[in-house]
Amino acid sequence: MTQRIAIVTGANGGLGESMCKALAEQGRKVVGTFAPGHAAAAASWQEEMKLQGFDITMKAVDVSDFNDCKRLLEEVESSEGSVDILVNNAGITRDAPLKKMQPEQWQAVIGTNLNSMFNMSQPIFEAMCNRGWGRIVNISSLNGEKGQFGQANYSAAKAGIYGFTKAIAQEGAKKGVTVNSVSPGYIDTPMVRQVPENVLNSIVGGIPIGRLGQPEEIARAVSFLTADDAGFITGTNISVNGGQYMA
Ligand code: CAA
Repeated sequence: MTQRIAIVTGANGGLGESMCKALAEQGRKVVGTFAPGHAAAAASWQEEMKLQGFDITMKAVDVSDFNDCKRLLEEVESSEGSVDILVNNAGITRDAPLKKMQPEQWQAVIGTNLNSMFNMSQPIFEAMCNRGWGRIVNISSLNGEKGQFGQANYSAAKAGIYGFTKAIAQEGAKKGVTVNSVSPGYIDTPMVRQVPENVLNSIVGGIPIGRLGQPEEIARAVSFLTADDAGFITGTNISVNGGQYMA
């Protein structure tokens, strides 16, 4: 069987790296993306991955820009082949209580965390359906499930992912294309380490398992959903949050 090609957006971020490794270990050819302007960091990360035995192709794309996503996907299809697996992982935070939140903070988070779902999926969805096989995993968040003080923008974007996921899961269902979401809780990544220490300590105090999650624990859910034998799982969400929120 030919090797399936997987794209992971935000590949060199806190969660993306583990996802790339898990997909590569599953036998996928992995193409990672990074945000324009971060080429040097992406190149040194790619080198580090190579040293660890992972051959990951890296490409720049602005996931908030539809035309740039279309360009990237055409480029990948012509240089690597058809994209079979898409992990929409890239995400940012611009936390502030609503009274202080500026329109730019709202737009940036909606653009990168929610518009990106459409921008990356729309250009390849029909082709996946025509080939009769595809896996899309959208990375949402615990805070999309329960809301979070200081994250009106992020919680709205992450909650929007559930509607998007369930809608296109229905469109892909008869065509062998599954679409699911994974909702990480507080994971030990640079994004979470930005949370003020006292706030984070009180959040960790509310996690029944009593610790932050590890990126590998999110990657585990992603590789489960993208597996060849996961074809009957679609339109659902896997929460990986240490019991912090039980929907
Ligand atoms: N519930 C109720 N009140 C809260 C609160 C909460 N969860 N968090 C803060 N407050 C209160 C404070 O106690 C304080 O109250 P007083 O004014 O009465 O003292 C007030 O809110 C602080 O208000 P400020 O206007 O001064 O807020 P700030 O400008 O200092 O910003 C914040 C506050 C940005 C929201 C900061 O608390 C923060 O960063 N919180 C963490 C947000 C968070 O969890 N982000 C997750 C990032 S990781 C991630 O997103 C990954 C993922 O998917 C899980």
